Amino acid sequence: MLEALHRWIIRMPEQASEWAARVDWLNNFITYVAIFCTLAITGVMLYFMIKYRRRSEDQPTTYITHNATLETVWTVVPTLVCIFVFIYGFLYYEEMRTPPTNAIEVGVEGYQWGWNFEYSTGKRSSAELVIPLGKPVRLIMRSKDVNHSFFIPSMRVKEDVLASTYSYLWFTPTKAGEYPIFCTEYCGTQHSAMLATLKVVQPEVYEDFINDRAQEKLTPVELGKKLFSQKGCVACHSIDGSAKVCPTLQKLFGQEREFVDGSKTKADENYFESSMLNPNGQIVKGFQPNMMPSFKGQLSDEELAGLIAYLKTL
Ligand code: CUA
Repeated sequence: MLEALHRWIIRMPEQASEWAARVDWLNNFITYVAIFCTLAITGVMLYFMIKYRRRSEDQPTTYITHNATLETVWTVVPTLVCIFVFIYGFLYYEEMRTPPTNAIEVGVEGYQWGWNFEYSTGKRSSAELVIPLGKPVRLIMRSKDVNHSFFIPSMRVKEDVLASTYSYLWFTPTKAGEYPIFCTEYCGTQHSAMLATLKVVQPEVYEDFINDRAQEKLTPVELGKKLFSQKGCVACHSIDGSAKVCPTLQKLFGQEREFVDGSKTKADENYFESSMLNPNGQIVKGFQPNMMPSFKGQLSDEELAGLIAYLKTL
């Protein structure tokens, strides 16, 4: 019963790092103190309003000066509670800012709109951060463009990612599984689509992952499909013919496209490629320019080929 009430009041995500339980108890403590104070103060106030209400037109107001004991208690007790919260907050903060020297380091690059990761072996991954279970991990983060913020709710860590300087955070995952990663700094039209997944795996799996430098053996269409969601295309382009900010990509291949300047072209592989690398070069009639970021330099030839192969299947 209490447990259920607690979950209803405090909707915290899963506890999957060493920070989680500690952050949660302090957070819960502050929340419950706040709830208690709100109810107590409001309750007493309502009770007094009714009990001491004016009963007649000529009733005189009671003359009250002060109550030293009561005032001392309601000043000293909350002050002690605040000091207690400050001390714990400070101790945890200090620890969270001091990564152990044996931490595994992973580079994080934020860009409009997605996340890239680079591991010690030079292995890279996009939109998917893989780390080993039970080992401290330190993320070294930098933005390629505007300010972003890297947030993994289940690990209870969040830190701004800036273009001008490296920022970092560290944690020790305690539970294998997949957890969502968000950008929590408004960074442009596709901010809400700037997502990634944290995969906490067994240490052996992690070793295999970072040492496997060969391209993942997906067929071009599979690779394209994966990239389509990872790169955020899906945020603006529908694949079922419905209208979004940008043209639908359903059955686009082979269609004749008409542009705002009146010119026309057939949607072939070259058209797909130029639309991804130079999206504002040709704007389809009825749509606005400057909506889509250029993927120039962000896609390898193989990835481009995969995306084009996938678009052709729609
Ligand atoms: Cu990046 Cu919001």
